[in-house]
Amino acid sequence: MARRWTKGYAEGVASLLDPILRTLSMPQLRSMPESELPLGDPLPWDLFDRWGAMLLKEGSVIRNEEQLKDIIHRGPSIQVPDAIPDPLQEQRRSLHIGTPFDVNHKCIRFLESISRDPFENPQFLEDVDRVAAAILRAVERDEDAALASLLIMEDGRYCIRHQVETAIVVAAVARHLELSAESIRSIVCGALTMNLASLEMQEALHNDRSPMSDETRILMNLHPQQSANLLKDLGVTNKEWLGAVAHHHELWDGSGYPYGLIGTRIPLGAQLVQIADTYTARTSSRSWKTREHASTTLADLVRNAQGATNPDLTRILIRILGVYTPGTWVHLDNGEIALVARRGRTLKTPIVLSFISRGLALGAPLVRDTSVERYACREGVPPPALEHPLKPNILWGLVLPIPT
Ligand SMILES: [Fe+2]
Repeated sequence: MARRWTKGYAEGVASLLDPILRTLSMPQLRSMPESELPLGDPLPWDLFDRWGAMLLKEGSVIRNEEQLKDIIHRGPSIQVPDAIPDPLQEQRRSLHIGTPFDVNHKCIRFLESISRDPFENPQFLEDVDRVAAAILRAVERDEDAALASLLIMEDGRYCIRHQVETAIVVAAVARHLELSAESIRSIVCGALTMNLASLEMQEALHNDRSPMSDETRILMNLHPQQSANLLKDLGVTNKEWLGAVAHHHELWDGSGYPYGLIGTRIPLGAQLVQIADTYTARTSSRSWKTREHASTTLADLVRNAQGATNPDLTRILIRILGVYTPGTWVHLDNGEIALVARRGRTLKTPIVLSFISRGLALGAPLVRDTSVERYACREGVPPPALEHPLKPNILWGLVLPIPT
């Protein structure tokens, strides 16, 4: 008795599920109006009824009015092609995953894809915000590694890489100021789009040694406002984001462009982007020169602290980056050449990894605390030629994990 009931029950469930399962396995259909059904010509597609059952295969011919009427009665439909997969979707999902070196690389690749034609990407603004969130998370997770990534890696086109690097420095400095999380994120978005209207020009200028022509100078002066206008056209209404972009070339003493704003009349976000922009531009390599040592750039910023940049921000930047910034190379008092890996007890005493001793490469890098006298930093030096490329994920992750 129980067995008969069970069988009947199962059959009932199956009969109830059958139409649902059929619906789920049906192709995605779109109904065809009568006017689009060819009479007497081969069909350019498979033709289904409204329930997804095949009526005629591609190439078949509707021979007469009577057959046409019958087809119309059945609700003629054709299959909708599968949605074209969004190539950016996978990048979006994994943007924040990995070490700061991985995130730096992925953000450059992704920003390059979405900046080619922002109007073609309905998610452009959300995508910029995703990059900002990934950068902030990476900086929060390991600030030393994030700062080192600017000086160690050289991925992608300069015009895009430069915006990501500027955003990393902005994120590192902004989190030490009394700013809301929303403000920080808006300013980081500003750094990521500061040159949106002039990417090609920035790329060309980066490797052009000749003096800037008058025409180029005019275009340069226009690019902050043009980038802000472009962002407005794309739907940005956030004033901090737009302000950071429109004024990122204003200087503290009023000698900047486009409006010559002075001091605190320059939005704080723009001041932050300006100082980070200067630091990352000067410490990047060009086709005719190697990177300027970060300690040289920072010393210059201090010297000009009463001029181009807000002196308070300059002090904060030095406090965050240290005199010997992660990612730079130093000559130690004992003669070793070492890579600065983590900031130490003071601005001048980082934790470093020695790679070269007495002119010879060490078998494995040695961790040195430069607050110990014999390992003190003597001076910054250019990156040495190494036998093997650096593996930053291993160096920062295994050799020098984040101190707890
Ligand atoms: Fe700019």
